[in-house]
Amino acid sequence: MGQPRGLPAVLLAARMSVRHGVSRAWGRLVATRSWHSVFRHGYEDTRRNRLLQVSSNVFLHLHPTTTPASGLKFAYTWGLGGLSLLLFVLLTVTGVFLMFYYVPDTRRAYDDMKDIEFVVPFGQFLRNLHRWAAHAMVITVWLHMLRVFLTSSYKPPREFNWVVGVVLLVLTLLLSFSGYLLPWDQIAFWAITVGTNMATATPFLGAEGPFSLVTYDNDLRFLILGSRSVGQSALLRFYVLHCLALPLAAAVLLAVHFWRVRKDKFSAALALPAISGGSQAADLLEKPGAEVPLQETAPAGAVAGPAREVRAAAPRVAEVWPHLVAIEFLAAIVALLMLHVWSLWIDAPLEQVASATNTPNPAKAPWYFLGLQEMLVYFDAWIAGVVLPGLIIVGLILLPYLDPNPVGVGFYDLRHRKRATAVFLFGFLLWVALIVIGQFFRGPGWVWYLPWESWEVAKPVYEKTWNFPWPAGLAAIALYLGLGLYLPRRLRPEVYGTISHRRYAVLMLLALGMLALPLKMLLRLVFHVHYVLVTPWFRI
Ligand code: HEM
Repeated sequence: MGQPRGLPAVLLAARMSVRHGVSRAWGRLVATRSWHSVFRHGYEDTRRNRLLQVSSNVFLHLHPTTTPASGLKFAYTWGLGGLSLLLFVLLTVTGVFLMFYYVPDTRRAYDDMKDIEFVVPFGQFLRNLHRWAAHAMVITVWLHMLRVFLTSSYKPPREFNWVVGVVLLVLTLLLSFSGYLLPWDQIAFWAITVGTNMATATPFLGAEGPFSLVTYDNDLRFLILGSRSVGQSALLRFYVLHCLALPLAAAVLLAVHFWRVRKDKFSAALALPAISGGSQAADLLEKPGAEVPLQETAPAGAVAGPAREVRAAAPRVAEVWPHLVAIEFLAAIVALLMLHVWSLWIDAPLEQVASATNTPNPAKAPWYFLGLQEMLVYFDAWIAGVVLPGLIIVGLILLPYLDPNPVGVGFYDLRHRKRATAVFLFGFLLWVALIVIGQFFRGPGWVWYLPWESWEVAKPVYEKTWNFPWPAGLAAIALYLGLGLYLPRRLRPEVYGTISHRRYAVLMLLALGMLALPLKMLLRLVFHVHYVLVTPWFRI
């Protein structure tokens, strides 16, 4: 490694003397008898040994023995997949300790939480760690998904691993949601009540949903809660799901996920670091006659195609031990340190014991579901709670199969995939914006309150709204869908003309579904429109 440019001479000298001191101390330590009593042989730092460190260790064996040097750059993955795994492990360990002191019985659960806080040694700290790690995992998994998208790592041959990832994202949310009820305090009780009430609005399967085939005693909410309302059966169900079923499912899928990362080869293999920033490589690939890299068949780091410059730029490989392992180790230490400090500093909330008769105003869902709750302002529950989340999940799952652009795998190349990036970032940021609104800008009666406004000051909840007459509403929706399907192909045949009819239709319907949300928000917030279409069976 070269000298870091610009480091003052005094710092260089200090660094040299620290290195010298450490290596002398190390030499003395390994020469002692007690060291020899434990370790019979020294470790010879040869290439063969570096590879063996990984291939002969059951845990490190998750990695390949070598990896493209470009993949070692922290700013490629930001360590987000690894951090998500670290948090999952930490949650499992702290969760097991919490289970020693917690009984899922509505008559005991809250008292057990109080005991954990005030009686169990380090109980409050343990609970804080568990709670904050759960929130952190939701964030790292989201950001990991964003990084995988931005580096095009969902494109062939990694489409299936993206799908596994989407299921892991849903499991992460469900794990967090199911844990929310267990403290059995007011936040827990009402967050789960709000969350599960949406299930009654499911089309066909919810008692209040359009075309309902069921009653309150056998609909989807009843299945989730084991009763008509949140009570003992719900607590037991959530406990079993949270401590057993969901972690088990997540563990199995994580194994599949990591196995596929190995099999599909890590995407940074095609980062082509020798060509500045990778984008020139993308330019080469876009040249007429240039072939797309054969990612499916090429060995890690190899690139096929007529562009000799690309082939010549095959990336350098680095040994995973010690380079990648050291980075992962450091990232884990820093993350754990931050989480420990945070948990020492800020306590996980615990309100009054749950009460079915004392409804908080507003009763908010957990923060990661506040986007859904905010959507309830603009849509009926069956759309906000079932159709739109369903569309998001289906859209995410289909993404690798709908994006026909092969360019960009292995580096942050937004220039050559402007449309895909714009659509994805739009959806991602819209989701974040809805959560921010729900968390910080909604007060009693779900009315707008600025973060610094007091909730004590009552605001009128009633808003005068109006609906489109049904023929106008039907026409507006037909026009929206018709033009949305027709115009892009008509105006940009060079982009959309090459896609098959079916793929084009799915792509456009998903995009129109996403765009419908900000449009409806605009109609409601600016023009006070409540429904665009009202029928005897459903309202939109
Ligand atoms: C519990 C949640 C998850 C964990 C623990 C996890 C962990 C990991 C790890 C450790 C890697 C290896 C490299 C890296 O750090 O990026 C990885 C790669 C990958 N993950 Fe995840 N992941 C999770 C969720 C997701 C989600 C939500 C998606 C997408 C929707 C996803 C898609 C992928 C893909 C496609 C790769 C291969 C990326 C490449 O080769 O660059 N994962 N994941």
